Amino acid sequence: MREKVIIFTGAGVSAESGLRTFRDMGGYWRQYRLEDVASPAGWKASPEAVLSFYNERRKAVLEASPNAAHRALAALEEFFEVVVVTQNIDDLHERAGSSNVIHVHGEILKARSTADGSLVYPLTTPELALGDRCELGSQLRPDVVWFGEHVRFIDEAARHFADATKILAIGTSLSVYPAAALVDEARYSAEKYLVAPEAESVPYGYRFIRGNAASVVPHVVKCWSEGRKPC
Ligand code: APR
Repeated sequence: MREKVIIFTGAGVSAESGLRTFRDMGGYWRQYRLEDVASPAGWKASPEAVLSFYNERRKAVLEASPNAAHRALAALEEFFEVVVVTQNIDDLHERAGSSNVIHVHGEILKARSTADGSLVYPLTTPELALGDRCELGSQLRPDVVWFGEHVRFIDEAARHFADATKILAIGTSLSVYPAAALVDEARYSAEKYLVAPEAESVPYGYRFIRGNAASVVPHVVKCWSEGRKPC
């Protein structure tokens, strides 16, 4: 049986692919009020503002490419059973070749019916507009989880964390719950790391590796693939 590794990612893993994070300098929440563009109340008040916010982000995702961190994580599957649990709504993990990715906050390249949440459609162009409708005739919305909405696959993700012998958290400020609480589901005996250029707090039992994902993650992957602990 292959050893199980959990990769837990946030916006920082895609920063070197040119995608903005949320809370860093230049982050989205420094420019936008999250209530206005990422909440049910914001959607009710101005669906145009919400659609335009995600159209801008979708365009950036379609123009971006996976970086060395995404690619190294995909390559790790040669040696371990790897599950990527991501807070990101981009598809860079999948484009890099990761085969088992769980999106707890949804996916920006999909649209969802506002009448029936089980009706989900792939998006191939950046633009989702007012008047774009599902087969029931209701307005389509981005298939993402807004603040105050139910986060997906959280129990399944927690089970994966509890099963793993190695955990690598990358590029997340661990400030949004319930996703941030997943790090505490890990076994005491598991090898656990947090990778970021800075961290306000490091979860109990995790070793902090200061640095950017595209340079640190390939090193961690190399060490693990050679049966060593990252040094
Ligand atoms: N490599 C690694 N980490 C990085 C890099 C990089 N190149 N650049 C920035 N970081 C780190 C920052 O230090 C910070 O800790 O990435 C983290 C980004 O934090 P946030 O902007 O808060 O993003 P995230 O943790 O993914 O946010 C969680 O909040 O806004 C919601 O739904 C959204 O999924 C998101 C959730």
